[in-house]
Amino acid sequence: MTLQIKTIEEYNTAYQKSVENPEGFWAEQAETFTWQKKWDKVLEWDFKKPDVKWFVGGTLNITENCLDRHLTTRGDQVAIIWEPNEPSQDFKTYTYKELHAEVCKCANALKAQGIGKGDRVCFYMPMVAELAIGVLACARIGAIHSVVFAGFSAQALADRVKDAQAKMIICSDFNSRGKKHIPVKQVVDEAIAMGCDSVEKVLVYKNGRNEVTWNDNLDIWWHDTVDSQSADCPAEPMDSEDILFILYTSGSTGKPKGVVHTCGGYMVYTCFSFKNVFQYDDGDIYWCTADIGWITGHSYIVYGPLLAGATTMMFEGVPTYPNSGRFWDICDKHKVNQFYTAPTAIRALMAKGDEWVSRYQLDSIKVLGSVGEPINIEAWNWYNKVVGKEKAPIVDTWWQTETGGIMISPLANITPLKPCYATLPLPGIQACLVDTEGNEIEGNNVEGLLCIKFPWPSMIRTTYGDHERCRQVYFSAFENKYFTGDGARRDENGMYRIIGRVDDVINVSGHRMGTAEVENAINEHSNVVESAVVGYPHDIKGQGIYAYVITNYPVADQDAFRKEIKDTVSREIGPIAKPDKIQIVSGLPKTRSGKIMRRILRKIASGDTSNLGDISTLLNPDIVQEVKDGAI
Ligand code: WT7
Repeated sequence: MTLQIKTIEEYNTAYQKSVENPEGFWAEQAETFTWQKKWDKVLEWDFKKPDVKWFVGGTLNITENCLDRHLTTRGDQVAIIWEPNEPSQDFKTYTYKELHAEVCKCANALKAQGIGKGDRVCFYMPMVAELAIGVLACARIGAIHSVVFAGFSAQALADRVKDAQAKMIICSDFNSRGKKHIPVKQVVDEAIAMGCDSVEKVLVYKNGRNEVTWNDNLDIWWHDTVDSQSADCPAEPMDSEDILFILYTSGSTGKPKGVVHTCGGYMVYTCFSFKNVFQYDDGDIYWCTADIGWITGHSYIVYGPLLAGATTMMFEGVPTYPNSGRFWDICDKHKVNQFYTAPTAIRALMAKGDEWVSRYQLDSIKVLGSVGEPINIEAWNWYNKVVGKEKAPIVDTWWQTETGGIMISPLANITPLKPCYATLPLPGIQACLVDTEGNEIEGNNVEGLLCIKFPWPSMIRTTYGDHERCRQVYFSAFENKYFTGDGARRDENGMYRIIGRVDDVINVSGHRMGTAEVENAINEHSNVVESAVVGYPHDIKGQGIYAYVITNYPVADQDAFRKEIKDTVSREIGPIAKPDKIQIVSGLPKTRSGKIMRRILRKIASGDTSNLGDISTLLNPDIVQEVKDGAI
């Protein structure tokens, strides 16, 4: 069994051991899993390249650890509870035995369609149980999954499919989210028409009643292909460092990059962090409200919980359908013990009023979790008092797509809490703060750039197809350190508070967005010469998107123009990237070398124009007044 720390003393001991003898510490954790062949060496690393290998020479299959290994001890225990969008529709459950059978059937179907080890399979699917089944089926046969959030546009899907050179796309015909009915297959068809030549088959899960356009050369129905397969599929032997999945995420420059995670280390760390942060005990019902299209869903809906033999819930819908009590209704209905969501959802529900929560008992909740962005004090207090009745500790979990698992977080009921603080690094995580020159800032009561100075098992290995980009983005800023892109503060007790991104990445409702990416999308509009995008504080979303736009020719109807810009961004990226505010300007403040002064734009967007600092060195200082005057 994975080590489960029970007291702060045990945490201190484990942390100390993980620093003094990391290889010994992680070898002990790895021993608790099923390996087809044991590793020869625990760790090899060089952050300069970067080159990081955990459990070198070991062979395993993560699905044997998620499924097969539980069959004798908990075969009839529920592995996944699936709660549908419509509360009137029956929920579904899969025991470990049933899930094992479904995964094997799907794996055999993939094999029958010519998918094998190392092939890339893209998913563009709503939160149906078949998404988890499909992902695990890929892992079963060594195919590399790349899940694309189903809210992205056809263009964004096509970009990712092409970058991964995916051989197959797995999707559904339709998707129901709240009152919306989304034609998922149609978006896939559009993406394929954009030149996704690598795609040989599209596997379609039937989730709606409407007709879809069908291409006999490409399209196959899930129920025609999967249901008749044998429920027995051998688990492909995978090297510890074989790729398990690619997940695309935004950075400060260029197109989204494919973050690569590998089998062995990811398995060990997601299980370890899940058990310890949430203090999951046998019999508990655990619910993470994320979408599997993001890393949170990968690590803490699918892999972590199943590795730990937990009962994990998947929810198809949204927090406000059919009304704002839906989350709490589900918590009572399934007697949820650990509930993990994002600050943006907490703020949105808080705004609807306490009465939506007080209708429910919520007495099963033992632990509350938060993830994705800094949680503000009002939201923290409300979550603690109104949802948790001051009886459930809040684990504010800081981590990233690139880290694979939770890095800094309280361990529920063990670590002392401090509102808005992610508190202490997990065992094995050597967090540090550095100044802009890369000097480590020692001591407490300090602020700096958050780095990690030693490898951990679930860390990013490369960016798919472009290793240099990985080196450049994460390992070149500071020698021998992984740079997170976040700023943080360490208090007098050594506890961390994450302040937020220090690069040109914004966090909108917990979704990560590159400002350059949004600008590129806006610039696709025929009347746009140049644009600059910044984040500004937003009550519900955390950050909103503020776009400054220079046009070719004067705009007669500003509202129509704004709508066109939003439509352009929806088409290029997806509705989640639509600017909240669009200001037309005749120029942008620039340095003499032509760099946009985002600092000034950020201040104006935040409504604070009192002290814009020194603007005399600008190429065009006069523009500042115009931008200020026109601010929205
Ligand atoms: C960025 C990573 C990892 C899960 C979802 C987001 C911000 C994440 C917290 C937190 C403050 C947080 C950081 C980070 N972030 N969790 N608990 N407190 N900030 O993953 O899309 O890769 O984004 O989200 O800025 O760098 P992601």
